[in-house]
Amino acid sequence: MSGSVPPSPQHVLVLDDNRDLAENVAELFSAAGYSTEAVADGSGALDAAARRAFDLAVVDVRLPGDSGIRVAGELKAQCPEAEVILMTANATLDSAIAAIREDAYAYVQKPFDPAELLAIGERALGQVRLGRERMRLERELARSEALYRGVVDTVDRYIVALGRAGEVRMWNRSAAASSGWNAAEVLGRRLTEFLPSEHGRASFAEALAQAAGGSEVSDLELSVRTPDGSQRIVRWQLSQLPQDEPSAPSVLAVGADVTDRLDLERRAAEAEAMASIATLTAGLAHEIRNPLNAASLQLELLERASKRLEDGGTRGRIENRTRIVREELARLTNLLDDFLNLARPRAIALEEVPLGALIEEVVTLQEPAARKAGIELHARVPPDAPAVRGDSAMLKQVLVNLIVNAIDALRGREPRRDGGSIEVSCAPIGDARVELRVDDDGPGIPSEVADRLFVPFVTSKEAGSGLGLTIVKRIIDRHGGTIRVASKPTGGTRVRLYLERAS
Ligand SMILES: Nc1ncnc2c1ncn2[C@@H]1O[C@H](COP(=O)(O)OP(=O)(O)OP(=O)(O)O)[C@@H](O)[C@H]1O
Ligand SMILES: [Mg+2]
Repeated sequence: MSGSVPPSPQHVLVLDDNRDLAENVAELFSAAGYSTEAVADGSGALDAAARRAFDLAVVDVRLPGDSGIRVAGELKAQCPEAEVILMTANATLDSAIAAIREDAYAYVQKPFDPAELLAIGERALGQVRLGRERMRLERELARSEALYRGVVDTVDRYIVALGRAGEVRMWNRSAAASSGWNAAEVLGRRLTEFLPSEHGRASFAEALAQAAGGSEVSDLELSVRTPDGSQRIVRWQLSQLPQDEPSAPSVLAVGADVTDRLDLERRAAEAEAMASIATLTAGLAHEIRNPLNAASLQLELLERASKRLEDGGTRGRIENRTRIVREELARLTNLLDDFLNLARPRAIALEEVPLGALIEEVVTLQEPAARKAGIELHARVPPDAPAVRGDSAMLKQVLVNLIVNAIDALRGREPRRDGGSIEVSCAPIGDARVELRVDDDGPGIPSEVADRLFVPFVTSKEAGSGLGLTIVKRIIDRHGGTIRVASKPTGGTRVRLYLERAS
């Protein structure tokens, strides 16, 4: 309350059909510093209460042709925070009970001692003042809580309160928006349940203990898993919360979602790498192609010469070796083609590509290779599969690269076992986009390459060049599409491509 404006006095309303008595009682309260009004009948009292809210009403029970108890009830309905004192000359048990039922503060019997009435009245007024003050504070608290809630919810940061065991006690709207988990799904669970990597969980637990012990932790970068299996990278700052009661949350974690920024940095780095490949390739391709052609030619001559050898044993051994060399030369040529493609890609030719037919074609082509490795490769294409706007040859290359990756993953998994399956499917998303899916039940993306899949030369394979997904990403980018690669929580890898639907 501001100190400069004196608080207005509390207001007392007195109702008695004996006007002199009403005025005497009013006088009693005026002398004690209250503002007062004396009225002689029920309707006058209700009018007065409508004009000015009262804090205390002193009401005579016996009114000619009316009931003071009824009037008291209506007055109370009009000013619920106010109190009522009833007066009567002939107290009966009935009216006492009715008075209590009407929630009167007190019941005074005439004739009364004025000092006593004033004392009771002042107690009632004190209670009213406290009640009003409590309501004011509650309103103020609600307002300030709403303000803080608003700030916490609008600020573009994770604001998370954590209990001793790392369980989430507060989860603001930005946290929900960034992670995809709403408060109801997270509250009460440990934050570590939402951290996908073992290492991340360990560093978070350590940081939590440190913050709870009073030393702040900053710049802790951790991935948070989202409901759809992808991840957001969040930079956290953890600090201790004042512990005013044992059950209060002990640590405040404030996090900034830096995924997009890192993504941008990564893309810039990728673009830089691509540019240097282009220069390198332009210079080297020609130089490599010539000796490659020469070697191939020499090999051809060698093969012909070996066919004329008499000694079958020697001929067989030589043929075996030349076959290996030919295969290696073919690999080199392929690699060179990949390089050239990346460095100087041909113009994209957009047309309407029926996705169903394209999937069937590539799957049929790759099926023998999969079968040889004991892997089940199948297409699941609805009869009304959508068409996309794309470059058919490029999209085939995309699908081949993804399927070959899946076959490699299933073949290379440890411990080695037979089987495994790959499914290629597609579905429309709304009327503008189409989703193309490649799912395998292999070991999932190895963590050491997971965040650099589209960077050239990043590979976990002994004989891999690490260009497959770089090319895929390039092609999808040129189609204005998007690609998402994620390890599934149930194991295996899920690749999702989003392309523009042909109208
Ligand atoms: N389906 C998958 N399952 C598990 N890991 C995968 C899968 N697809 C890709 N990867 C991982 O991503 C890495 C990069 O793949 P990418 O296709 O770019 O290169 P590569 O397959 O290693 O070599 P290249 O395709 O040039 O022969 C792979 O080495 C592998 O670790
Ligand atoms: Mg590959």
